[in-house]
Amino acid sequence: MKKLLTLLLVCLVFAACDDKKSGNAEMDKFIDDLMGQMTLEEKIGQLNLPSSGDITTGEAKSSNIAEKIKAGQVGGLFNIKGVEKIKEVQRIAVEESRLKIPLIFGMDVIHGYETVFPIPLGMAATFDRAAIEQSARIAATEASADGICWTFSPMVDISRDPRWGRVSEGSGEDPYLGGEIAKAMVYGYQGRGDDAYKSNNQIMACVKHYALYGAAEAGRDYGTTDMSRMRMFNEYMYPYQAAVDAGVGSVMASFNEVDGVPATANKWLMTDVLRDQWGFDGFVVTDYTGIMEMIDHGIGDMQEVSARALDAGVDMDMVSEGFLSTLKQSVEEGKVTEEQLNLACRRILEAKYKLGLFDDPYKYCDAERAKKEIYTDEHRTIARQTAAKSFVLLKNDNNTLPLDKKGTVAVIGPLANSSSNMPGTWSVAVNLVAPKTLVEGIKDVVGDKARVTYAKGSHLISDAAYEERATMFGRTLNREQEKRTDAQMLAEALSVARNADVIVAALGESSEMSGESSSRTDLGIPDVQKTLLKELLKTGKPVVLVLFAGRPMTLTWEDENVPAILNVWFGGTEAAPAIGDVLFGDVSPSGKLPATFPQNVGQVPLFYNHKNTGRPLAQGQWFQKFRSNYLDVSNEPLYPFGYGLSYTQFDYSDVRLSATEIDGNGELTATVTVTNKGKYDSDEVVQLYIRDLVGSVTRPVRELKDFERVTIKAGESKDVSFTITPEKLKFYNADIQFVNEPGDFDVMIGGNSRDVKTARFKLK
Ligand code: NOJ
Repeated sequence: MKKLLTLLLVCLVFAACDDKKSGNAEMDKFIDDLMGQMTLEEKIGQLNLPSSGDITTGEAKSSNIAEKIKAGQVGGLFNIKGVEKIKEVQRIAVEESRLKIPLIFGMDVIHGYETVFPIPLGMAATFDRAAIEQSARIAATEASADGICWTFSPMVDISRDPRWGRVSEGSGEDPYLGGEIAKAMVYGYQGRGDDAYKSNNQIMACVKHYALYGAAEAGRDYGTTDMSRMRMFNEYMYPYQAAVDAGVGSVMASFNEVDGVPATANKWLMTDVLRDQWGFDGFVVTDYTGIMEMIDHGIGDMQEVSARALDAGVDMDMVSEGFLSTLKQSVEEGKVTEEQLNLACRRILEAKYKLGLFDDPYKYCDAERAKKEIYTDEHRTIARQTAAKSFVLLKNDNNTLPLDKKGTVAVIGPLANSSSNMPGTWSVAVNLVAPKTLVEGIKDVVGDKARVTYAKGSHLISDAAYEERATMFGRTLNREQEKRTDAQMLAEALSVARNADVIVAALGESSEMSGESSSRTDLGIPDVQKTLLKELLKTGKPVVLVLFAGRPMTLTWEDENVPAILNVWFGGTEAAPAIGDVLFGDVSPSGKLPATFPQNVGQVPLFYNHKNTGRPLAQGQWFQKFRSNYLDVSNEPLYPFGYGLSYTQFDYSDVRLSATEIDGNGELTATVTVTNKGKYDSDEVVQLYIRDLVGSVTRPVRELKDFERVTIKAGESKDVSFTITPEKLKFYNADIQFVNEPGDFDVMIGGNSRDVKTARFKLK
C-alpha cells in the first residue's frame, strides 16, 4: 500500500512537471538535458534581450554585449542588420560561451524588409488576406536571408483614435479585420501548423502590443488605458487571440497599464487570459525597457518590478536588464521561485528549438541567400501591385482621375521629390535612397507621352522645430539645404503650375509624423502646405491631391474644394510607380478605409461600430435637441469605415438569404449580385455587417463579420456569398462569456459601412 502511494505521488509530481512540458517528447528531453547543465545565472541569461545598438528605437542602449554573450548572459539580440554581422555574433555564442546555446535574432520587420510594402494601415486598406500573407512571406524571406529569425510583428492594436501616431502600424479600428490580418501575417511569417519554421525562410512572429496599447487616453503614446472587460473582449482582444489561434510563437507585452497594472506585470493578462484561456504556448517578451518603465509607473524598484514581470508570465526582458540584474537575488529571497525562472528559460529554449537553431545555429545565416533573395525584382513587382491595392480614392468629381498620359503634368509639393519619405514609418531595414520619388515614379509610368515638371512649393511645416521632430531617422526633407522661404517656393510652384495641364499636389504628412511617439492633436494637412494647395486651386487647373498619411486625417476643406483626392498612405519602396499606375489609369483604385476619417478632431474617437445609445438621432437628422449629437457638426464621419471609390461604379442588388431562420447548428448564406456599371475593370471589396437587434447587453449598430475582394470586369456582374454561422453571432455578455443569444439580426452588405443593403433573419 505504501509503495502504491509513493508511486501515485511520483506520478502526480511528474504530471505536475509535465504540465510545463510541450508534449513534444524529443524537444522536452533535449531541453531537460540542457537545463540540467545550466546554472541559475545561465538560465537568467537566456531571459535577457539586449539591443545591438545598430538600430535604436528607444532611449537606452546596451553595452558590452560580446562579453555578456560569452558569459551566457544573453538569450537573443535585436535590430542588428547584416548576415555577416549576425553570423559573427552567433559564432561568439556557440563557440565562446560555456553551453554554446545559440542566440535568437530579432528585428522590427513590420511591413517588409528591404522590399517595403505599405504601412500596416495601408495593408489593411487592401482588405486582401492573400496579399497580406504574401507580404509577410516576402518580408520573412528577405529578413531570414539576412540572418533574422524573429520579427516583432504583427502589430494588431485596435485604435479608434487617429491622434495616436501608431495607428499607422496597425490595421485600424475593427477587431474582425484586425483578426483576419493577424492570422494572415502569422501564417506568412511562420508558415501554417506543422509547416511552421520548416524552412530557413520561415521566421517566428511576435504579436504586439498585448494588450490595448491602441486605446491610450487622448491618443498620447504610452498613455493610460482603462476600459470595461466587456469592451475589452468584444472590441479589442480578438486580433491578439486570432494571432494565438494561428500559432504565433511569441507575444510582446505593451507599455500601457490594463486595469491599473502595467501589462508587463499583469498576471491576469499574461497568464490567466493569454495562456490559460487562449492556450498560448510560446514566450512573452517585454517591449523596449518595459520592465524598467514600471519604476516610473510607480509599482516598485527594479527588483520588485522584475519579479512582478516574471511572476505575471513574462519570459524575456527587452533592454531593461532587470531580470539579469535582480532575479538571482529574488530567487534567493524567495520573491520568485526557481520553478518560475525555469519555466521562462524553458520557453525561450523551446523557441530556439522550434526554429531549428540547436540543429544549425547558422540556419538563417546563408550569405548566398542574402545576395539573391533581398529586394529582388519579383518582390518589388509584388510590392508595387500591393501598394496600388492599398490606395483609397476619397473623391473624384467629374472623373478628374484617371489622368491622360499627355500634355504637362506638374508634380508639386514638399513630398513630391523625396525618396526617404516613401517607405513609411517602421521600415528599419530599408535603403532610404532606393525608393523612387513620386516625380520619378510618374515619369516612369508616363514615359515620353507626357512632360513631367516639379516644384517643391513649400516646407513640410512652417515651424522648423516641428519639422525636425517630424523627419527623424534619416527621413529628412533637406530643410537645411533649402535656403528659400515658403513665399519664394510658392512663387516658383505657381509658375510651374500655370504652365501645366494638370497639377498633382503631393501633400500631407511626412512618414515620421506617424508611428511611435508621433501623436498629433491637429490632424489636418500642415499649414504651409494647405496654403500651397489653396493657391494651386486658384490657378483654375485641375488639381489632384495625392495625400500621404499615416493615419485618418481631417480633410473637410479639401473634400469641399479639391476635385480629386487619392490617399496613398506610405506605400513602401515601390509606392511611387504604384501611385503612377493608379493616377494614369493602369490600375483602378480599390482600397477601402480601415479606419473612420472624422470631420474634425473634436469628433474623435469616432468609429462605425458604436452603440446606438438611448437617444439616437432620428433618420436623416443631424441635430435634435436632447439627442446624442453636437451643436456644431453632425455625427457623420467625413469618410466612413470601409469607404473607397474606384474608377467604375458598382451596383449592389438586394440581399438574398438562403433561409430566414437558423438554429444553433445551422448556417445560412447571404448573397448579393455586384455589377460593374462603369468602363473600367476593377476590384471591389464587398463587406458583410451584422447587427444584433436585441441583446442582454447593448450591441453595436453594426459589426464587420466578413469581406471579400473580387475582380469584376466592366459591364459584368458577380454573385458574392457569405456564410453566416451562429459562431459569427456570438459576443461576450455581462459575465464575459462568449455566447449566442437567440433573436433577430440584420445582415447588411455593401461597399462600405454606410451604404448597405439589408435583410433580416432569426437565430432560434
Ligand atoms: C518599441 C516598440 O514599441 C515596439 O513596437 C518595438 O518592437 C520595440 N521598440 C523594438 O524596437
